[in-house]
Amino acid sequence: MKDLKNMSIKLILDNQSSSGAYIASPNFPIYHFSWLRDGSFIAYAMLLNGQIDSCRKFLKWVHETIKRYKNKVDKIAFKIEKNQNLHTRDFLPARYTLDGIEVKDDWSNFQIDGYGAWLWCLSEYSRITGDKSLILKFQESIFITIDYLKMVWKMPNYDCWEENGNHIHPSTLACIYGGIKGINLSFGGEDLSSLSEEISKFILSNLTEDGRFPKYIGSDSVDSSLLWLSVPFGVVAPDHPVMQKTVLAIEEKLSEKGGGVRRYPEDTYYGGGQWILSTCWLAWYYLKTGKTGRAVQLYEWVKEQSDERGYLPEQVQTSTEDPDFVAEWEKRWGKAANPLLWSHAMYLVLVKELKGCSL
Ligand code: BGC
Repeated sequence: MKDLKNMSIKLILDNQSSSGAYIASPNFPIYHFSWLRDGSFIAYAMLLNGQIDSCRKFLKWVHETIKRYKNKVDKIAFKIEKNQNLHTRDFLPARYTLDGIEVKDDWSNFQIDGYGAWLWCLSEYSRITGDKSLILKFQESIFITIDYLKMVWKMPNYDCWEENGNHIHPSTLACIYGGIKGINLSFGGEDLSSLSEEISKFILSNLTEDGRFPKYIGSDSVDSSLLWLSVPFGVVAPDHPVMQKTVLAIEEKLSEKGGGVRRYPEDTYYGGGQWILSTCWLAWYYLKTGKTGRAVQLYEWVKEQSDERGYLPEQVQTSTEDPDFVAEWEKRWGKAANPLLWSHAMYLVLVKELKGCSL
């Protein structure tokens, strides 16, 4: 597809509901909801590409949605104070209907990264546009989010792939760190720097034996979402030795020669193919470290994956980790998601970042 940039922007705009929510994938019924995680990255990509209104509409949608569920956060505080058991349904969900309503089902809903990512996107909006008015208008939802994250950040919860709910995930904590730090800089309210420092200390004191960030605390495995620890959430600098070791492991265990990047070594979802998101994150990281050649290689691969309609899928299944699982998932949910709005958004981030660097 020649003009993948404009096609991606159009696709995202066409699939943004009038409420402001972004549907995760229009052609995959299971993804007919809006995830705070996907949405925050999509809104950020739109912001970078001059689509400020779209970004603002999403941020406002999250603001209204979070306000609607303030009672859940109050109830968690009450239960913690009274030493009562918390259930999965007590927490704020990972995804909502496009009208901002919680879906009461058995989805792996306790995921907190999206709430950090939302604060991060809001703070980036204010930093990039210089418009502080949203932060002022959204004080109520910002406070609810901060109160929530303060209570839950150290609790095991599902990762950004909606798996491993009994564990604590450094990439999830990176989103919280980025959100708290970003909002702290632009908010000027209560000083939250001790919270972000505590989170980063916790992450850095829970490494693998050979000094990498682990997929989750206590694990020896690796995950492409660990790239978030440096880009974009900045827990460590891209050239931090722990980050460098982690990136080496990602290259070694997850990247396909001349191809894209997998999510993590044990992945079996739709066979565990190469993900557009993971590939873009690695390219984004390399753009920040000056390894432009490798970044461009990954970017070109991403571009080649768009089909004749210009759609970028969630994953590319040409060489899957475990082909038996392709049929199994297709039987359950139909063909894998295509297009995925978040894939298009990450492509758009790369387009923008590539423009700013000398090739
Ligand atoms: C991915 C999540 C994503 C969701 C909607 C899931 O399969 O693992 O990261 O938020 O799809 O796109």
